[in-house]
Amino acid sequence: VKRVRVKVPASSANLGSGFDCLGVALGLYHTVTVEEHAGNGLEIRVSGEGEDAIPVDESYATHKAMLEAFRITGYHPARLVIESINQIPVSAGLGSCAASVLAGMGAAILLSGQELDRNQLMQLAVGVEGHPDNVAAALFGGVAVVCQSESGLQHICLQVPAEIAVTVALPDFPMSTRESRGALPDVVPLVDAVHNLSRVTLLVAALATPRLELLEMAMQDRLHQPHRADLVPGLKEVCSAAVDSGALGAALSGSGPSVMALVRQGDGAPGAAMQAEWARRGIPARVLDLPIDRAGLQFESEHFS
Ligand code: HSE
Repeated sequence: VKRVRVKVPASSANLGSGFDCLGVALGLYHTVTVEEHAGNGLEIRVSGEGEDAIPVDESYATHKAMLEAFRITGYHPARLVIESINQIPVSAGLGSCAASVLAGMGAAILLSGQELDRNQLMQLAVGVEGHPDNVAAALFGGVAVVCQSESGLQHICLQVPAEIAVTVALPDFPMSTRESRGALPDVVPLVDAVHNLSRVTLLVAALATPRLELLEMAMQDRLHQPHRADLVPGLKEVCSAAVDSGALGAALSGSGPSVMALVRQGDGAPGAAMQAEWARRGIPARVLDLPIDRAGLQFESEHFS
């Protein structure tokens, strides 16, 4: 019998101005344990977020990602027992899909007896999942800067100041990434592109230096949030409520509908303010106060008889 366990953090993409090129890993996890036994067949057990909505058959995303990795490694597994414990809300803008794919592919690579090369896994997972900002953050931890080019993906992870944490306010309506991307224009005015360029460069510099007082300005976005605002009622006001109550900056989390705020560790005021702003619109919202995950994907594997 072989057993592997892969634990992957949630992630929040964009941080406002860094559309499709920045992500931050969050201390909330999808943990997948896979055992390979003699014989044939497949058993899938899923618990946690989305447990009622996720199909526990061959169409299960983690299993499909495993099959793709087995195809690449050329490994033919015997009977698989997959146990998934998921803390990451689904269709929330918190990278649940990237975490499922990374967990599945990582587990399959380890079961195949291969070394887990994170750069290779990043390329494979982006090929399946399509969002390098979530994938890089979840795989490497911290704040990931990622650049996709013809010659592949490049990334750099910033280890951001220890005093920064993330508060997520998750309103009680799901939103698919496809729907949220469908709201975006194909072409943007040069003035908006320059607006975001100046802010995302400021954001990376402000996190690295650090100059925390610049984060609010640096997270401002004109490329995607204005176009997604109709899908997320109160987006602008919820971000303002967070900042007005002490958040360092706030933005739509990935493609939404969650809003994320960078906060000083232990500061519960921005979360309460975001929740109250949504409540004013009759929308219940969950608040998650999360540390930044600094390790990225973690794994262990063992053989026993
Ligand atoms: N950067 C992507 C988007 C993230 O905003 O659509 C999707 O999770």
